[in-house]
Amino acid sequence: MTDNLLTDNPALYEARFPDPGRLAGRWAEDCLRRHGAGKRVLDMGCGTGRDAAWLHDAGREVTGADLSGAMLAHARAHHPGPEYVRADLHGFDLGHGRFDAVVCLDSALLYCHTNDQLDGFLSSCRRALAPGGLLVAEMRNGAYFLGRTDLLDTPRADEFAWRGTVHRSVTTLTVDRTDQLLRRRRVWTADDGSAPVEQRSAWRLLFPQELRHLLAAHGYEVLELHDGPGPRTEPPWQEGLLPGRTTDADRLHVVARLTCTTTH
Ligand SMILES: C[S@@+](CC[C@H](N)C(=O)[O-])C[C@H]1O[C@@H](n2cnc3c(N)ncnc32)[C@H](O)[C@@H]1O
Repeated sequence: MTDNLLTDNPALYEARFPDPGRLAGRWAEDCLRRHGAGKRVLDMGCGTGRDAAWLHDAGREVTGADLSGAMLAHARAHHPGPEYVRADLHGFDLGHGRFDAVVCLDSALLYCHTNDQLDGFLSSCRRALAPGGLLVAEMRNGAYFLGRTDLLDTPRADEFAWRGTVHRSVTTLTVDRTDQLLRRRRVWTADDGSAPVEQRSAWRLLFPQELRHLLAAHGYEVLELHDGPGPRTEPPWQEGLLPGRTTDADRLHVVARLTCTTTH
């Protein structure tokens, strides 16, 4: 039994969520360029390291940080270039004013479940950023679930082949209104005779106006807040497309600039 089959098996994670065109890295780089960010980038919740390495190859000085030792080991072995360090999104200190930008991709930010954890993340980013530094994040949009149930409560079956074994998952998403969390229960089976694995995880249901308020309270100016196009929207973002203005669809993208380093 593992805590999280995908984050404990980074190669499986990449197979399950392929990004062959490195759209997430390209989109983040596009945001950084559009707002004139300096070279030093921290990728918080960097996972397998593929986006960190892409930003490194684009000429940036990148540090990738994650809590999962398995992810960090995979990143060092398979996506070299950046420095990889262990750090917790909920509160970290990697040096004052050391970065020109923090990127946080594919809902990593939503592993801050409580308000205290969100405050911890935003104040840690504020410490890590040089004045005028950018925060670029991409995640699920909590507002999508207001009045929509299409993704909820009904188990969804999926399967894919990895290294000669067919892996099947049955996933159920539910809304926990009290804790404002989207909870996921996923049961994995494989045709190699291994026992089923149940995995539970959750994301904060963060609403656009709530995010705007939190950012302002922590000394950030919101430059962009929209539901696409982005690397995981349909249709996906591509080079040359500009950010939209609505926050209605299922992904949320934010670019914010640190304007005040002394709030809180
Ligand atoms: C959905 S993955 C996204 C990975 C990567 N950003 C990407 O886009 O492929 C979320 C990542 O957040 C990491 N994570 C979860 N909780 C964390 C925490 N408290 N501190 C740091 N990383 C965390 C997980 O280990 C995982 O690598």
